[in-house]
Amino acid sequence: MNDTPRGNLTIRTLAMPADSNPSGDIFGGWVLSQMDIAAGICAVERARCRTVTVALDSMSFILPVKIGDVLCVYTELIGVGNTSIDIHVEAWSQRGRTGNEKKVTEAKFKFVALDDDGRPTPVPK
Ligand SMILES: CC(C)(COP(=O)(O)OP(=O)(O)OC[C@H]1O[C@@H](n2cnc3c(N)ncnc32)[C@H](O)[C@@H]1OP(=O)(O)O)[C@@H](O)C(=O)NCCC(=O)NCCS
Repeated sequence: MNDTPRGNLTIRTLAMPADSNPSGDIFGGWVLSQMDIAAGICAVERARCRTVTVALDSMSFILPVKIGDVLCVYTELIGVGNTSIDIHVEAWSQRGRTGNEKKVTEAKFKFVALDDDGRPTPVPK
């Protein structure tokens, strides 16, 4: 497995008790949410307008995230269509004081650029 994150560090955040189930395992949906936020930042930087998530490919979680882990989300722009933008997103977890990061999951997100009326609009060249 690749041990180096792919893309730019876009979000670092702490996994808190409110993000976990009663056993202390962080909800996958919380991780997915952070990935969506990071991809949204990347999409807006490219489109320079309002964007929405339209699709993402299948995901599986390789390792658990625990309370107190630092979740690091990396994004890489991998394609631009007419109104859409594809972004590769990886979530890595830092546990303890070693600073070592381990990959938790990855996915490809697709965002669509919207005009002020919420209609798809071309992504600038
Ligand atoms: C995004 C949205 C405006 C697209 O509307 P639409 O009528 O499908 O628009 P279009 O057919 O013109 O497609 C726009 C682009 O999205 C892509 N697209 C649309 N639906 C897609 C899907 N299900 N999967 C992958 N790509 C899709 C199209 O290929 C097109 O890309 P391109 O312009 O680069 O070729 C509309 O589907 C929408 O509002 N979805 C909800 C988005 C949202 O709210 N997300 C957050 C959920 S809480």
